[in-house]
Amino acid sequence: MKLLAISGSLRAVSSNTSLLRAAQLVARPPLAIQFYDGLGSLPHFNPDLDVDPLPPAVVDLRAKIKAADGLLISSPEYARGVAGSMKNLLDWMVSDLDFSGKPVALFNASPRASHALAALRLTLETMAARIIDQASITLPLLSAPLDAQGIAADAELSRAIGDALDAFVKAVQG
Ligand SMILES: Cc1cc2nc3c(=O)[nH]c(=O)nc-3n(C[C@H](O)[C@H](O)[C@H](O)COP(=O)(O)O)c2cc1C
Repeated sequence: MKLLAISGSLRAVSSNTSLLRAAQLVARPPLAIQFYDGLGSLPHFNPDLDVDPLPPAVVDLRAKIKAADGLLISSPEYARGVAGSMKNLLDWMVSDLDFSGKPVALFNASPRASHALAALRLTLETMAARIIDQASITLPLLSAPLDAQGIAADAELSRAIGDALDAFVKAVQG
């Protein structure tokens, strides 16, 4: 099973990115997690550009999402909303029929970020994604910033991530 991890933060030392990178470390074969590194290269969404030929960065995004059995999304909250870069990525997926029914686990690196999480959920539901609640977790990483290795080395955090990944695989495999 192949998952695509998408962080909504462009920050070099991002807690959301570290959480997803830790999931890569925790995942065991046959589960493989690819990290999407194109967020910062996506053009601003413009319906006039959402026609053939699509911008190359959008072609790449859609191909990666299509090839994935599911998505792990972790995104920060800015001004009580979804980070703009993350929303921009999702806007590029609205017209893509392959997104419908795509299993999504919502990871969250901050218990404070409840507004963004709720808004993200609403957008994903509107786009007919299949949010897997049993695989969606919120971890308190903001108060104790750790890199991916540090998160994976923490027994409690790594167990929470491992359990979420197991639940995701189970839900997707039916
Ligand atoms: C411009 C800006 C606005 C923010 N607004 C909120 C907010 O409304 N609620 C919140 O909980 N955190 C807010 N934060 C804090 C971020 O969510 C926090 O820095 C988080 O760690 C960013 O995620 P990252 O570590 O993955 O980059 C804000 C940060 C910035 C830079």
